[in-house]
Amino acid sequence: MAKERIVIYNESEIAGIRAAAQAAAQVLARTCAAVRPGLSTKDIDDLAGSFIRETGGKSASLGYHGYPGQICISINEEVVHGIGRPQRIIAEGDLVSLDVCVKYRGYVGDNARTIIAGSSASAPEGAQRLLTVTSEALQAGIAAARAGNCVNDISSAVEQIATAAGYGVVRDLVGHGCGKNMHEAPEVPNYRQPGRTPILRPGMVLCIEPMINAGTGRVVIDRQDNWTVRSADQSLSAHFEHQILITDTQAEILTWLKTA
Ligand code: MF3
Ligand code: CO
Repeated sequence: MAKERIVIYNESEIAGIRAAAQAAAQVLARTCAAVRPGLSTKDIDDLAGSFIRETGGKSASLGYHGYPGQICISINEEVVHGIGRPQRIIAEGDLVSLDVCVKYRGYVGDNARTIIAGSSASAPEGAQRLLTVTSEALQAGIAAARAGNCVNDISSAVEQIATAAGYGVVRDLVGHGCGKNMHEAPEVPNYRQPGRTPILRPGMVLCIEPMINAGTGRVVIDRQDNWTVRSADQSLSAHFEHQILITDTQAEILTWLKTA
């Protein structure tokens, strides 16, 4: 299969992507703030759905290859793509990963974050460190996302932070281009690839999204729902994602929330 071309967006397209990214960032922030023990993951999905509607956009995840939720909600050893369910009640100290993808006026915003439900003191041993390291891995990836560098510079930076901490990098899922569509070229793996990878140029829009497990990086897909990805060894998992624009200088973090 021929490789899809990497889109270089122009200023007016970038303005549209900025607006979609801000909508996604706002929904993620509001949804994170709504998470508390006792709510079901379906409650969270419903809330996120109403926050998405309030932006004037719609969920880009709903219906994507048949995905049934407004957002993805993944708890503890669940890595990504967890579906909100009425029977799944959030407990104090749970690690809750929220992935919000919004389609807004023809463009897509995509971002994700893992938080601790309730008091962080109640989280399992090592949970806070896993969150800190995964978010630092994302920041390192963003710092490496400069014009003239290549995708592998991002991948290496992410991988290095995660492996230095003794964690497992998930390799079965990767970051991606994201502008007019949720998933565009290039792939942005969280581990160094052999050979050459695409050069980063101003106008490229990328989602960098480390998925890091406290144990090994191996994952399995739920046999019932065919969506939920879990760590194979049941270890805790974290996921942080930003959508960024490659510029002449440092990358612009499009999903950095500007207004509350
Ligand atoms: N938003 C996810 C990403 O970061 C993709 C979600 S796919 C879905 O790429 F089908 F689960 F929505
Ligand atoms: Co993404």
